[in-house]
Amino acid sequence: QKHLLGIEGLTVEDITGLLDLAEEFVILNRQIEKKRTTLRGRTQINLFFEVSTRTQSSFELAGKRLGADVMNMSASSSSMRKGETLMDTAVTLNAMHPDLIVVRHHASGAVALLARKVDCSVINAGDGAHEHPTQALLDALTIRRNKGRIEGLTVAICGDVLHSRVARSNIILLGAMGARVRVVAPSTLLPPGIERMGVEVARDMREGLNGADIVMMLRLQRERMNGSYVPSVSEYFHYFGLDEKKLSYAKPDALVMHPGPMNRGVEIDSIVADGAHSLIREQVEMGVAVRMAVLEALSRNLPNA
Ligand code: CP
Repeated sequence: QKHLLGIEGLTVEDITGLLDLAEEFVILNRQIEKKRTTLRGRTQINLFFEVSTRTQSSFELAGKRLGADVMNMSASSSSMRKGETLMDTAVTLNAMHPDLIVVRHHASGAVALLARKVDCSVINAGDGAHEHPTQALLDALTIRRNKGRIEGLTVAICGDVLHSRVARSNIILLGAMGARVRVVAPSTLLPPGIERMGVEVARDMREGLNGADIVMMLRLQRERMNGSYVPSVSEYFHYFGLDEKKLSYAKPDALVMHPGPMNRGVEIDSIVADGAHSLIREQVEMGVAVRMAVLEALSRNLPNA
């Protein structure tokens, strides 16, 4: 494939191939010498219209470890602040002959639109509430390394499913890989018709976490709740915040995940976030390996490769 715009459209073989390749980069990244030359001479632009810590920094590290020249651009420092459109920005950057553009944008579908305007490969680093494919891939890698498989596991995705591109990408990926996926949220934070994505739906944590192998918590995305109901933090934490008591509803060996950034005391208690069941730091490590795998896989289809 030329682009990675979403998990939708990837086959099980595509996903497994990327995870297997990422395993090699996990080993490389734990060595002193971490550099490869796959992207030597190539230019990677990271174009972020929304803030990011994990995704932007790991794409930068991933590109540099593969030998690319990496340029970071944010909306706040670009001419979009002077009224330039996304499409004009894309055409402008395209004229500089990049080989890869990594894009995060607040509008669903914006990354796919941009991909149609440029000649190079485009990677979706999160578009609105649509998809965040590399997050789902790094989550899958983390699960597979800790549970030895994905197929047959029960994964509870809990919290603000309505506004979450992470939930959407994970639902598609985990379902394709044979996991049983359950979303757990108040009705106000569930997209209408979510059942059609092949998930079970629970509206309280006791029911939702029952028998879960993986408990994946989502951030309460208050910045996306313009005009809609915003739950009070204390009420939300009481009913849906993951603490030790609620985690005890899941299997005894259940593992806890969170894509970050975490809101401690809102969707997750610090005792659980930093506890023995938590995979949250490992998810960050897997993020660099998965993004190296995606860059390497796409580099095979670059012109003159
Ligand atoms: N998980 C995630 O996308 O984190 P950032 O917003 O920090 O990139």
